[in-house]
Amino acid sequence: MIAIDAKRLLGRIRELGAVGRNSEGRLIRLAASDTDRQGRDLFVGWLRQAGLDVAIDRVGNIFGIWQSPETMGQAPLLIGSHIDTVIDAGIYDGCYGVLAGLEVIKASGLSPSRPIAVAAFTNEEGVRYTPDMMGSLVHAGGIDAETVLAAVGTDGSVLGRELARIGYAGDLEPGFLTPHAYLELHIEQGPVLEREGLPIGAVENLQGISWQRVTIDGVANHAGTTPMSMRSDAGHAAARAITFLLDRAKASNAPTVATVGTIRFEPNAINVIPSRAVFTIDLRDPDEQRLQAEEAALAAYLEQLAATENVIISVEQLARFEPVIFDLRIVERIEAAAKSRGLGVRRMTSGAGHDAQMMARIAPAAMIFVPSAGGISHNTREHTEDAELVAGANILLDVAAQLAT
Ligand code: GLV
Ligand code: MN
Ligand code: MN
Repeated sequence: MIAIDAKRLLGRIRELGAVGRNSEGRLIRLAASDTDRQGRDLFVGWLRQAGLDVAIDRVGNIFGIWQSPETMGQAPLLIGSHIDTVIDAGIYDGCYGVLAGLEVIKASGLSPSRPIAVAAFTNEEGVRYTPDMMGSLVHAGGIDAETVLAAVGTDGSVLGRELARIGYAGDLEPGFLTPHAYLELHIEQGPVLEREGLPIGAVENLQGISWQRVTIDGVANHAGTTPMSMRSDAGHAAARAITFLLDRAKASNAPTVATVGTIRFEPNAINVIPSRAVFTIDLRDPDEQRLQAEEAALAAYLEQLAATENVIISVEQLARFEPVIFDLRIVERIEAAAKSRGLGVRRMTSGAGHDAQMMARIAPAAMIFVPSAGGISHNTREHTEDAELVAGANILLDVAAQLAT
């Protein structure tokens, strides 16, 4: 059986995982930041060392392309993910899939009859700039390059300027490469595979995502002198809105999940009633109708809340992606590959967003998952056993070998 170079893959995951780690041991490589540049430089160095053609598009997506005179002109198999991270990230999210893709291309015994490329898409995480899955969304034609290059980050930076500053504003037009098929290997980031004692997930669909930013405007006033009945308290209204959203998701029998991950008060002082509260909502559901119903319920509640709390509420949609169904034929190949290596496998839904959901718009696509210890991700404690990482990479190799010949 063909196999990837396990030692090199594991070594590189660790090496990349050390880039952007600060003196407190926290890993932060936000898109187009200085630490992202260091990660990109390391990755591009590996692509060149592998003898691949390196291509960078205007939104900073990086491609390492293998082709031979025999495969020239054919649509490539594309394997991708991302190397930007969240704040206080683990080392596997995204990086595992990108580095495994590179190993697939370099695996000895692989004799593809079409080109194979590996991609690291810009700003998959969406922490610094929204929307998330940004680079792959642009590549798939879902948003234009100018719009995302003008995106203003949480720190006031502009993506296009930051990409130019770190040397990754390429000159290729996004979408220059139309894949024959797209594969993405990723850690599950949830508890299902570990709980069921299975090493491989064949991802058949991915849930819908709604990101919103809610701004509540009230009136700042003295915390000691203003009677409760005379307040226009943005903080209290925010608390009620958040409780409504989270309690509703918690009480639901559906797989709806809701998160408020950021909040900010103004003027943010102990003895001043908040004049403004700004918080973000991450709402997800595998069913589009239900996701719409949840969005509508929230909107109705906010309208009523504005009246009862005497505040002004405005909502901005930061990202909205419908659920995605992956290519069944590739899902079946993943299952068959796992079985022929004697590995337990199940079909599953991705709870996380991935570049694959964007690439599915332009090519047959599917994903392979490996277990996440304790179901923990977007956390420095994110962990997957070496043997599980290697097993997943070899399934990626098997399926890639089929799709590239
Ligand atoms: C991407 O990491 C997401 O938020 O699902
Ligand atoms: Mn990821
Ligand atoms: Mn992530």
